[in-house]
Amino acid sequence: EKGGYPTFMDKEIAEQPAAVRQTLQGHFDGLRIVLDEQRLGEDELRTVDKVFVVACGSAFHSGLVAKYAIEHWTRLPVEVELASEFRYRDPVLDRDTLVVAVSQSGETADTLEAVRHARRQRARVLAVCNTNGSQIPRESDGVLYTHAGPEVGVASTKAFLAQVTANYLVGLALAQARGTKYPDEVAREFATLQEMPAAVEQTLELMDPVRELGREIGGSRAVLFLGRHVGYPVALEGALKLKELAYMHAEGFAAGELKHGPIALIEEGLPVVVVTPSPKSMPLLHAKLLSNIREIQARGARTIVISEEGDDTVAPFADVLVSLPRVPSLLQPLVATVPLQVLAAEIARSRGYDIDKPRNLAKSVTVE
Ligand code: F6R
Repeated sequence: EKGGYPTFMDKEIAEQPAAVRQTLQGHFDGLRIVLDEQRLGEDELRTVDKVFVVACGSAFHSGLVAKYAIEHWTRLPVEVELASEFRYRDPVLDRDTLVVAVSQSGETADTLEAVRHARRQRARVLAVCNTNGSQIPRESDGVLYTHAGPEVGVASTKAFLAQVTANYLVGLALAQARGTKYPDEVAREFATLQEMPAAVEQTLELMDPVRELGREIGGSRAVLFLGRHVGYPVALEGALKLKELAYMHAEGFAAGELKHGPIALIEEGLPVVVVTPSPKSMPLLHAKLLSNIREIQARGARTIVISEEGDDTVAPFADVLVSLPRVPSLLQPLVATVPLQVLAAEIARSRGYDIDKPRNLAKSVTVE
């Protein structure tokens, strides 16, 4: 059932183009974005004036990505919160608040309680979920299913990419309902999303050097991950994968925070993975990242730079350069996450660990 792959995780990483493709399937009817089960119709989306995304772990990171896209496309304020925090505080919600609860399993205890907490305050709840008929969609007002297929590896890979994809659809559905994007713009954004499975496929073909790097740095004490904009949640996701799988100290930071503390961690030989934005579409942020890379390299870090193909300005400061296909900036997480998954898997393997079943973790966290 591993389809010729050594582990489920390897298989699921390889299935990511299909996970993205299937999650998009059926959600555009030629004119408009359509969500599943129209329990939350366009009329209801039109009056939304605030969005919360609540989730745990990787699903939370997918929500952080969503914030950049949804705010940009809809001009609605978006808050992203860990379900375990949201459920125990007094968030400001009313009937015009849309709470998006993201969960692969649909059974995560904290996310389920966050849904109940939101509904008690009459907020509308949309579940983004990978498991048909699970509890979170059952208790929500509407559901958008991710179609990643069953995920067996405990560390989330294809389900995460499917969550990121589904969250973009939520953003486009809101933009369409609110009229912050013209119908032809929504259609164009959807068409761009449809090009992403091919971009993920191309990315997968570029992973041999990343595997080699993983074997090489398996003995490191720690790895840091830096990013800005949507590259920041990608950095957090990369660090989480490495903690889970390789039991290593790993931290993700917003690169702009370096000088506010984390730069003190940089020492000779420390691997630092930097997710850089496109120099063409985000020249300002790209320049900031470039200077961050120079700073850490000057202090002895081993820089592993995830960049866009054709970006030769970063090359002189990259000890290892991973060039990925060019995609629109907001969609970069769909490609940039892949090398970080592969790196974590390979480091863990080189340390002799079972990457499908990391210690102390369960696939579905139904107790707090
Ligand atoms: C990370 C991972 C976990 C889950 C989290 C939420 O690789 O798998 O962090 O993302 O436990 O699970 P779901 O999405 O089922 O609510």
